[in-house]
Amino acid sequence: MKIILDELTRAGSIDWQKLLWLVVVMFLVGVFGSAYYRWIDIKRFNFLLNLDRYLPNILHQKLLSLSLGYHEKENTGNKIVKIRRGVDRLGKLLDNATWDFFPTAFQTIFTFIFILIIDWPLGLVFGASIPAYLLVTWRMNKIVGPWRDDSQRNYEKSAGIMGQSMINIHTVQSFAQERYEAKTHKNVLDTIFNLENKIWSKILNYNFTRNTILDVGRFLTLGFAVYQTARGVITAGSLVLFFTLSERVYSSVFRLSRIYDTIMDSAPAIKRLDSLMRTETDIKISGAPARHKVLGKIEFQNVSFAYIGEKRVLESVDFTINPGEFVALVGPSGAGKTTIVKLLYRHFDVTGGKILIDGMDLKKLDMRYYRKQLGIVTQDIDIFNDTISANIAYAKPDSKFEDIVRVAKVANAHDFIIKMKNGYDTMVGERGVKLSGGQKQRIGIARAILPNPKILVFDEATSSLDSESELMIQKSLLEIAKNRTIIVIAHRLSTIRRADTIFVFENGKLVERGTHKELTTNDGLYSRLHSLQVAGEVR
Ligand SMILES: Nc1ncnc2c1ncn2[C@@H]1O[C@H](COP(=O)(O)OP(=O)(O)O)[C@@H](O)[C@H]1O
Ligand SMILES: [Mg+2]
Repeated sequence: MKIILDELTRAGSIDWQKLLWLVVVMFLVGVFGSAYYRWIDIKRFNFLLNLDRYLPNILHQKLLSLSLGYHEKENTGNKIVKIRRGVDRLGKLLDNATWDFFPTAFQTIFTFIFILIIDWPLGLVFGASIPAYLLVTWRMNKIVGPWRDDSQRNYEKSAGIMGQSMINIHTVQSFAQERYEAKTHKNVLDTIFNLENKIWSKILNYNFTRNTILDVGRFLTLGFAVYQTARGVITAGSLVLFFTLSERVYSSVFRLSRIYDTIMDSAPAIKRLDSLMRTETDIKISGAPARHKVLGKIEFQNVSFAYIGEKRVLESVDFTINPGEFVALVGPSGAGKTTIVKLLYRHFDVTGGKILIDGMDLKKLDMRYYRKQLGIVTQDIDIFNDTISANIAYAKPDSKFEDIVRVAKVANAHDFIIKMKNGYDTMVGERGVKLSGGQKQRIGIARAILPNPKILVFDEATSSLDSESELMIQKSLLEIAKNRTIIVIAHRLSTIRRADTIFVFENGKLVERGTHKELTTNDGLYSRLHSLQVAGEVR
């Protein structure tokens, strides 16, 4: 354009051929530009799709790898939103940074250098406003940064509240607390609203300042440029070129600042993702993890334990269980029985003492390999919204149907399953809502014995069963107990009469041990519990 103008305004004859060439070149540059942007857009699109494909999965794996201790701290909804928002924002940031920020920054710098070449005093006057502009942008983002962090935390909290009320929907509706739940959620949403409002009014105020800085810059440069042209330092063509370029730099600087705003706006969500990725699981596998085929010997040596930041719940617990033994843990609620099992599974590490499996330190074992050889029926059976057979086969999804039926029979579940509309293919609903407590427990028992574990734990696994079902399971228990170590935690002492050893716990201490016979003749906690139950005061 500069050359065209200079050519046209030049005294004397006009070089038409040169002008024609210039027009053609400008046209080609335009076409090339469009092709380039098309290519960029395809790359961008691909990049974002792939990010969405891989990143959530990586983060999910990370979450699954973190210990139970981590998961007990945070709500499900929080975790999901942390991942969802983090992935979205990271996509936005990478997209902006790669395709917009750097190209625009380069373009701005080159154009600016070009302007300096045309006329450096003019370039300096023009450039003076840019540092001021950038400084204001930086300051603004620094001010709103903490509010953005706060806002992100509250977004996660909001999802946590929603998730919680959905998980506990039965209780929410039964106690008619829908309004309370909605109100709690609304409070958090209000907080987010106020924060975002605060953030945006700050940004809008600063935008006014930023625009004013650019306007002043424009005014000064225009004045100076006209002055330079009038003095004949630059040609009219240069003046036009200069204006075109300077406007381009201004708009680029403006765009850059907006991109920077967006990046800073994404930062909190991404920081949270980053800290999730950096969370180390607190269950460390020291040394070379050994893949050990479990025989079933369990030793607790002087084991003490406290949950993180809590008081001790186990004190110097010492016992040995030999392979193939059937032992029972009894004691009042809160005595530490379930905690013992969590330690055996290494969901938590002992705070004192040692746990040995077949004489090997539990901390030296490959955890996944080890846990696959254990079976557990927990106090609350986790049921997946899937078919009954899939729920039973959870630990071994490729099981044969006959095997599923066989374990269902052992668990005394077969009869009620075949009475259901679709038998083994019946969908059980979210968390197994279509099943009664006793039915869930029987599915849990079938699930635990299917993979033929070397160590089997029943943690109050028969507490929701009617007496008849319990009796039937007690009978199968001897069958189940063959070739493996069994640990049964039970309140109903009738369940564990036949145990080889009964360990009695009270307040985190192992207070008595022996057979049913030995313990009932002693005058200890066990015999007190026993006579209470016999008297029928406690069932
Ligand atoms: N995740 C946890 N965080 C903190 N304290 C816990 C946790 N789980 C259990 N406790 C506490 O540890 C103690 C023992 O609990 P638990 O082993 O479940 O007892 P039991 O199974 O014998 O009824 C209780 O006082 C309980 O409140
Ligand atoms: Mg318990």
